[in-house]
Amino acid sequence: MHHHVYLIGFMGSGKSTVGPVLAERLGRAWVDTDRLLIDRLGMSIAEYFSRYGEEAFRREERSLLFALASSALPLVVSTGGGIVIDPDNRRRLRETGLVVHLFAPLSEIRRRIGDDPSRPLWSRQNDRNLVELYRLRHRLYRETAHCALSTVRYAPREAAERIVGALREDVEKRD
Ligand code: S3P
Repeated sequence: MHHHVYLIGFMGSGKSTVGPVLAERLGRAWVDTDRLLIDRLGMSIAEYFSRYGEEAFRREERSLLFALASSALPLVVSTGGGIVIDPDNRRRLRETGLVVHLFAPLSEIRRRIGDDPSRPLWSRQNDRNLVELYRLRHRLYRETAHCALSTVRYAPREAAERIVGALREDVEKRD
């Protein structure tokens, strides 16, 4: 049986919106890796990137993920879009929970995010890089996730219901 539920996907795909709705539905605690990292690092992600660089951020993100993964309490975890870059993270996610890929087309993501300075990888990318990053990441999300849901097709409550269904199916399959 899957212990945690992890929501993965590109920036702006709805992880932090669906997460709390799903957690409430399941009566579980919800955590968001970006928010926890902001507390842990004592500064915004954009500031941390510019002071210490992306690699340092990835190390912190990885250590947080491993700590959360071993929590005895089953969690709903909304993750940062780059969590899947690290192959050990990808393995850990799949081993310790149901991994759900939330996705939306890049045009919709652009509309949702607009010009957000708090996302360093978004604001620094020019358009071509962004398309490339989206493609590259999409492959990693697909490879890591057990299932995928469009957040254009499904509103947060419906998406949460579908995830509950996937959890139930998994329990039934393994019982
Ligand atoms: C990142 C996504 C961000 C945040 C950081 C890096 C990425 O999280 O972790 O800015 O590499 O895609 P969101 O997916 O919540 O925006």
